[in-house]
Amino acid sequence: MSETVDPKLIGSSPGTISRRDFIKGVIVGGATVSSAGYLFRASTLLAQSGAVGGRLLTINVNGQNRRADVMKQETLAWTLRHKLGLTGTKLGCDRAECGSCTVLIDDVPHYACSVLTHTVRNRKVLTIEGLASSDGTLHPIQQGVVDEQGFQCAFCMPGFIMASVGFLKTNPNPNRAELAQGVSGNLCRCQDYDKILTALMRGAENMRSASNA
Ligand code: FES
Ligand code: FES
Repeated sequence: MSETVDPKLIGSSPGTISRRDFIKGVIVGGATVSSAGYLFRASTLLAQSGAVGGRLLTINVNGQNRRADVMKQETLAWTLRHKLGLTGTKLGCDRAECGSCTVLIDDVPHYACSVLTHTVRNRKVLTIEGLASSDGTLHPIQQGVVDEQGFQCAFCMPGFIMASVGFLKTNPNPNRAELAQGVSGNLCRCQDYDKILTALMRGAENMRSASNA
């Protein structure tokens, strides 16, 4: 399949792609879609790696103080993935819509794509990589996902798990509807919501068992 982008479907620069153009691209075919996606991504890359000078920051991630050279416009998702190598935090929409990038900041779920890294100094960031114990024992929510074989492609899984870990800190014994509400800021492109909820409910049960043991 050709990777050539029809100049009529995109503007003369990445910033000129309209919603109409994008939808046209979807109808035309996958090559155009992926090319448009590449251009969106390219504009993000340019913005995140802009010419503005970086600053060496220390941020607490998964219980460790980590140093990174951070641009003032840099998002936490970018820093985690590209500066600290924590690629478990996924980037889906990169615009606070899908929840794939959810991490906990001081125990509260946040979209890491919409948090500037310099604002998390002196706060505690927890990513999916920090959930399991140092001996490799999975977090009860992670174990719930394994137990129930939740998720299809699992791209959305880290975000759902982090959102539910945060939610269960405020409501450790939710019913199914409450847990669904608790993770309603997260989307699954495979639309596997029923199985996901079953897995998260099992994880909540695992958490209660672990705390009663
Ligand atoms: S990537 Fe952050 S909300 Fe979608
Ligand atoms: S399981 Fe594929 S995006 Fe959720």
